[in-house]
Amino acid sequence: MDSIIVEGPSKLEGEVTVSGAKNAVLALMPACILAPGRNRFTNVPDLADVRTMIKLLKILGAEAELQDGTLIIDSSGLNKWVAPYELVRTMRASVLVLGPLTAMFGRSRVSLPGGCAIGERPIDQHLKGLGLLGAEIEIEEGYIETSASKLKGNIVPFDISTVTGTENIMLASVLADGETILLNAACEPEVMELASVLNKMGARIGGAGTDIITIQGVERLSPIEDHQVMPDRIETGTLMVASALTKGDLFIRKCKFENVGAIIGKLIETGAEISRIDGGIRVRGGDEIKSIDINTLPYPGFPTDMQAQMMTLMSISNGLSVITENIFPQRFMHAGELRRMGADIKLVGNSAVVRGISNLRAAPIMASDLRASASLVLAGLAASGKTKISRVYHLDRGYDGLDKKLEAAGARIWREKD
Ligand code: EPU
Repeated sequence: MDSIIVEGPSKLEGEVTVSGAKNAVLALMPACILAPGRNRFTNVPDLADVRTMIKLLKILGAEAELQDGTLIIDSSGLNKWVAPYELVRTMRASVLVLGPLTAMFGRSRVSLPGGCAIGERPIDQHLKGLGLLGAEIEIEEGYIETSASKLKGNIVPFDISTVTGTENIMLASVLADGETILLNAACEPEVMELASVLNKMGARIGGAGTDIITIQGVERLSPIEDHQVMPDRIETGTLMVASALTKGDLFIRKCKFENVGAIIGKLIETGAEISRIDGGIRVRGGDEIKSIDINTLPYPGFPTDMQAQMMTLMSISNGLSVITENIFPQRFMHAGELRRMGADIKLVGNSAVVRGISNLRAAPIMASDLRASASLVLAGLAASGKTKISRVYHLDRGYDGLDKKLEAAGARIWREKD
């Protein structure tokens, strides 16, 4: 198992390039189940989660290969509908095969994901949606079993805004009979990306990016010849915070300004200077980090996937900050680790009260989930001394070479085998 060592404090300068979006590609890959043939995607990040989805598609009978950012999925031979526990337990996004398998085969058997480090994460809305499209659903021996002779379009009102829930039902309904209307649909850019790829495959989806999405069912989809995956907005935000935190000057290339508006807004409040330069964003850290309050919300609000990184920034701010987590109320595993580095953080319900201190101190710390591990790497950049972060496999699930990118921008960061 690898650990990451960061020797701080660092000042990041220069250019970094953002990779393709994990949460976009994890929804695009199951879409290939609906489009038998050779599908091709570029700008695909090399991540443990992408490799897990490749494994899952292969178990289902597809051929899939990722090389140098190009992912080919040949789904012509896809002929199985069981997603085993061994894979689903390592990656919750595996549940995204539920909708397309039910639509293609009229049946599926997908392990029910359990709890995870960031909270309980039920999937009741996915099941409600499939039920409304006419699928019979049973839970047997820890597996969701669906069956339906042919899904039928319907009105699907989500009780809460759910990203993968919206994606799963969109995937299920593109081949259904008639019209499906998703109400209170998630508006995240990754949902728009999925709709746009499905439309290129021949689907008829309107309204993606708003909270009402309409889908006119079609007979069949064709494979996608070429699609470039959108840039990762959470990696973009993480690099932006890295620059602000180290009082650096970083030009973040190949990212999409429009998708990170809430993060930009909050970083400006902390005193960072932000400018948009062709195809990228320049972030210069201010002399002082001002304390601000943060509330996580569905898009276009401030993303929960940036909450941990902002907590690191606030831990060396000039005052008191209240960070409220509204999406995953227990997503605070990083707080205890940051405290080990001297941070003053108190948890009160779903809020963290952070009193800024002048400097973090290096300590051995442990990553508990993907975004928590990013926040700890950031903390290591700011702290004086050598911070050792163990269990960095969490980081590799969702960041393509973050340590290399930071190193290229001047950080002293390396990996060690335990
Ligand atoms: N929820 C339910 N019932 C459901 C579905 C969701 O109660 O059926 C609740 C969740 O427990 C949570 C809220 O609804 O309180 C929103 O969860 P959502 O379903 O939107 O989350 P998700 O689809 O499971 C995706 C991302 C997460 C990201 C969240 C929120 C993917 C593969 N995952 O998860 O990404 O945090 O949306 O934006 O797209 C990450 O990348 O680190 C990550 C965790």
